[in-house]
Amino acid sequence: MYIKQLIWIVIGLLWVAITAFDTGAMAEENKCIACHRNITPGQVADWESSKMSKNGITCSDCHGVKHKNSKDSNLARLPDEHVCAECHEDQFDQFVKGKHNYGWTTLNALPITHMEPDELMEGGKGCGGCHNMGVKTKVQKKELLDKGYRYRVNSCDECHTRHAFSKNEAQDPKACQQCHMGYDHPQYEMWSSSKHGTRYFVKEKGKLPEKAAAPTCQYCHLPNGTHENRTAWGFLGVRLPLPADKQWAADRVTILKALGVLNPETGKPTARLDIVKAADLARLTDDAWKIEREKMTKICAGCHSGQFARRHLEMGDRMIKHADRLMAEGIEIVARLYKDGTIKKPDHYPFAYPDFFYFKRTGGSYIDQVLFRMYMKYRMRTYQGVFHANPDYAYWYGWAAMTKSLDEIKELDRTMRATHKNN
Ligand code: HEC
Ligand code: HEC
Ligand code: HEC
Ligand code: HEC
Ligand code: HEC
Ligand code: HEC
Ligand code: HEC
Ligand code: HEC
Repeated sequence: MYIKQLIWIVIGLLWVAITAFDTGAMAEENKCIACHRNITPGQVADWESSKMSKNGITCSDCHGVKHKNSKDSNLARLPDEHVCAECHEDQFDQFVKGKHNYGWTTLNALPITHMEPDELMEGGKGCGGCHNMGVKTKVQKKELLDKGYRYRVNSCDECHTRHAFSKNEAQDPKACQQCHMGYDHPQYEMWSSSKHGTRYFVKEKGKLPEKAAAPTCQYCHLPNGTHENRTAWGFLGVRLPLPADKQWAADRVTILKALGVLNPETGKPTARLDIVKAADLARLTDDAWKIEREKMTKICAGCHSGQFARRHLEMGDRMIKHADRLMAEGIEIVARLYKDGTIKKPDHYPFAYPDFFYFKRTGGSYIDQVLFRMYMKYRMRTYQGVFHANPDYAYWYGWAAMTKSLDEIKELDRTMRATHKNN
């Protein structure tokens, strides 16, 4: 009887001792979770599912302790990538060296960004929804706040979403889909309907043995868990120095003029070349290009023969050359219409010349729209489709649509010139 009571007393004393040793931070933590279990139960459940919660990382580790009740939630810190870096320095350092770190900067370097509704940029409902990538500078963060946008300071959660912050999620190609899809970069569509993607899905369903090879986006672009990403040709499909082939070199110069990187009148570099350099928009030396090409060839050669890999990648390069021929022809036709006054220079264009940096804001000339679409949608698909081993994208959605666009441009050119003379 006495022994039982004694045991209870000891247990009671131990409990008091444990709670007394409980730190202040721990008490704060329980409050965050207790209250948020009612306020935002989904987030608490997410966090509970995470590996971090199992390792004792709690709300206040990321959000601080200043916000304490229902009325002062604006005091909660929204953690940027530097907060993650406190514990994940390696991933942070790799990420900063890669192309993703330039997402926000390149977006803001384009003139179009400052002509469209803020909702589509800072608000993240359009371009900004995908370009919330990379560590923002203090100036960029202040601009967001000034415009009334408090969120979207972190981009680590673009692949392992809050608050599960799961490695598994980020390893799935679907983690890339939201951004790498659609109009000008349908890599998810191309990969998922290529043999590589088909194999991945078949394997997922257990119809191929677990060991069967099926490369994912991550396998080719973030190999061995790295967070640094960059390709040889990049998005724009241009690079320096100019190629030895004279026609290809001339065609690339024409494209660089339409990108506004070269002055169409003098052929000299414009201030935009500085943007290209600063945001690593293109590889500017042979070495920079070769480093990326070599890395990729090695990855392919893990499953295919080295020769097979090189030949396929070189076919991609040659398709850029073919595509550039069509593209340059189109640009030159539209440029002549500007030059002889058949179409007028939109006020916001720096030169009387097509300007792809303004995206679809062409200022009213339909033929310029057709040209822009040929560049942004179809030229991209032509080589992206080849590189991602997708026959239909390379041909019907890419090359065939380019030739059709060029025909349309020629037809429009004829009718516009005929009606212009009649006026
Ligand atoms: C007494 C309840 C309560 C406690 C305790 C509490 N919160 Fe909150 N928290 C809220 C409410 C209410 C909101 C606002 C929700 C809304 O906007 O609908 C909020 C919002 C937030 C936000 C979002 C801020 C924003 O700008 O949207 C974060 C982050 C947050 N809390 C974290 C924490 C952390 C970390 C703790 C503990 C240090 C904590 N909360 C403690 C009630 C609480
Ligand atoms: C206070 C330290 C700390 C901070 C801050 C922190 N983490 Fe973690 N994180 C950890 C620990 C500890 C683990 C578990 C490590 C392990 O098991 O190897 C972890 C694991 C992870 C994982 C792997 C999860 C898995 O499924 O294997 C991801 C992803 C991650 N953190 C992302 C983030 C992001 C994003 C941020 C910033 C928003 C962040 N972490 C902030 C400590 C931290
Ligand atoms: C659906 C998501 C999405 C939207 C919307 C989007 N982008 Fe992008 N953007 C991307 C992705 C993904 C890339 C990289 C594609 C690639 O390399 O093939 C990219 C690339 C770029 C690049 C080139 C970056 C480089 O270094 O090569 C610029 C500039 C750009 N986008 C500007 C914009 C602007 C301006 C808008 C809005 C008018 C916009 N984007 C809308 C996802 C998006
Ligand atoms: C590993 C870091 C980390 C931990 C731990 C963490 N959060 Fe967050 N939380 C974030 C990040 C990152 C964001 C997004 C910031 C931004 O806007 O870019 C965020 C945003 C939020 C938001 C506002 C955005 C939204 O989706 O509503 C709330 C509310 C919030 N967290 C609550 C919590 C609560 C409650 C906990 C604890 C159960 C918690 N967080 C734990 C990193 C963390
Ligand atoms: C483009 C998508 C993407 C973004 C953005 C991203 N990650 Fe990851 N992360 C991944 C992938 C994929 C993995 C799985 C790597 C592997 O297979 O080992 C991963 C894994 C991790 C892990 C687990 C490492 C391990 O092996 O346990 C941590 C921690 C992590 N990321 C932190 C971060 C931080 C911090 C940031 C922001 C600076 C970030 N990630 C941004 C895709 C991303
Ligand atoms: C939130 C949107 C978003 C997500 C999610 C995302 N990306 Fe990106 N990605 C971008 C943007 C934006 C760019 C262009 C960055 C710039 O402006 O330089 C880009 C660039 C790239 C590039 C570099 C292309 C070049 O120019 O060389 C690669 C490769 C890439 N992403 C792969 C991936 C992979 C793989 C995943 C999934 C694990 C992924 N991305 C997830 C938005 C995203
Ligand atoms: C089998 C390997 C492989 C897989 C899988 C793969 N890619 Fe690629 N990707 C490439 C190659 C090769 C290039 C062109 C590299 C060059 O410029 O030399 C490329 C280029 C890119 C680029 C730059 C622009 C372009 O398309 O040429 C982006 C962005 C990109 N891939 C994203 C993705 C995404 C997202 C996925 C998954 C949906 C994916 N890739 C799947 C091999 C792959
Ligand atoms: C993880 C393994 C793996 C990697 C890495 C890989 N592939 Fe594949 N690839 C395959 C498999 C398996 C097939 C299906 C072969 C078949 O059709 O029998 C395939 C099919 C192809 C095909 C279409 C079928 C054919 O034989 O012509 C092309 C083209 C291709 N790969 C090119 C590449 C290129 C280029 C790279 C690197 C950018 C690459 N692959 C990386 C496994 C891989």
